[in-house]
Amino acid sequence: MSRAADVAERLLFQEAVTVAERAYAPYSGFSVGAVVVGPSGRSHHGVNVENASYPAGLCAERAAVAAMVVCGERTVRYVAVAAHDGRDCLPCGMCLQALAEFGDPEVIARVGGDVTVTPLHDLLTAPFTADGAGHDGRTT
Ligand code: THU
Repeated sequence: MSRAADVAERLLFQEAVTVAERAYAPYSGFSVGAVVVGPSGRSHHGVNVENASYPAGLCAERAAVAAMVVCGERTVRYVAVAAHDGRDCLPCGMCLQALAEFGDPEVIARVGGDVTVTPLHDLLTAPFTADGAGHDGRTT
C-alpha cells in the first residue's frame, strides 16, 4: 500500500534527482538516480550506466546497492529512485529482486506525479530465494 512521502522522504527523493544528473545514459536518454539508505543513515548513490552493448548496462538501483555493500552495509531501509526530468519511475523487476536480497525497504518514487512511499514487498510479492522463502522467510 502506497502513501504520500513525508518531509524527510521527499528530501531523499530530491537527492536522487540530483544524483541522476551523473547518469551515463547516452542510448536511452533516460537518466536515473538512486539513493539507498541503510541502518547507519548514510546515503549510498547509484546511477544508470549504459553500454553500447545494451544488455551490459546497469540500473541506478543496483549501482546504489553495490555502493552500499562496498561501504560495509547489508541492509536497505530506504531506496529513493528518480528520473532526472521528474518523470514517474519505479524500480524495474530486476532491481526489486536485487533490493529484496538486502531487506524490505520503503521505496520512494514518483508515481502518478506524486512522491510516494511503497514497501518493497508490495511491488515484488514473491522474490526469488535459494531456499524458496520470500520476504521475512515467508514461504508463500
Ligand atoms: N533504469 C534504471 O536505472 N532503473 C530502473 O529501475 C529502470 C530503468 C535505466 C536502465 C536504462 O539505462 C534506462 O533506465 C532506460 O531503461
